[in-house]
Amino acid sequence: MIRPILIHPDPRLKKLCEPVAEITPELRQLAADMLETMYDAPGVGLAAPQVGVLKRLIVMDCIKDGPAQPMALFNPVVTWASEDLSTYEEGCLSIPEQYADVNRPAEVIVRWTDVDGATQERQFSGLWSTCVQHEIDHLDGKLFIDYLGPLKRQMITRKMTKLKRERARE
Ligand code: NI
Repeated sequence: MIRPILIHPDPRLKKLCEPVAEITPELRQLAADMLETMYDAPGVGLAAPQVGVLKRLIVMDCIKDGPAQPMALFNPVVTWASEDLSTYEEGCLSIPEQYADVNRPAEVIVRWTDVDGATQERQFSGLWSTCVQHEIDHLDGKLFIDYLGPLKRQMITRKMTKLKRERARE
């Protein structure tokens, strides 16, 4: 089931999300719904608070050409980050059509619980690294525009407020 994606500014996008204690059937369904919603958007990553659920769950698939590689990560934690940084022009499904360069560690190791309840750990690089860090930020109420200067951030927030007003009128 495709779930509606919250658009910034929304207080639910600024909250610290709760760790998941147990992977229940409801949470597995949520992960499946989030992947469906992400592919439909389309996007390469989505975090649970973006569909209004304040739990530590992210989904992603950074393969643009080739077979899909859907991932669902519960309680993801960065356990190592490279000193090398990389810059990507980031966007966000909660901030449609706005993009800006963000610097982040080029590579990270992330530990998480998968849909079967097993612990996984993997090193991410390239777009996967940017994406996983961007999505984990969502779980701490942080958006990519929080890395920008206040003027740029306010300009984007004003545009989003206007977009939400227009959509509400439709
Ligand atoms: Ni995002």
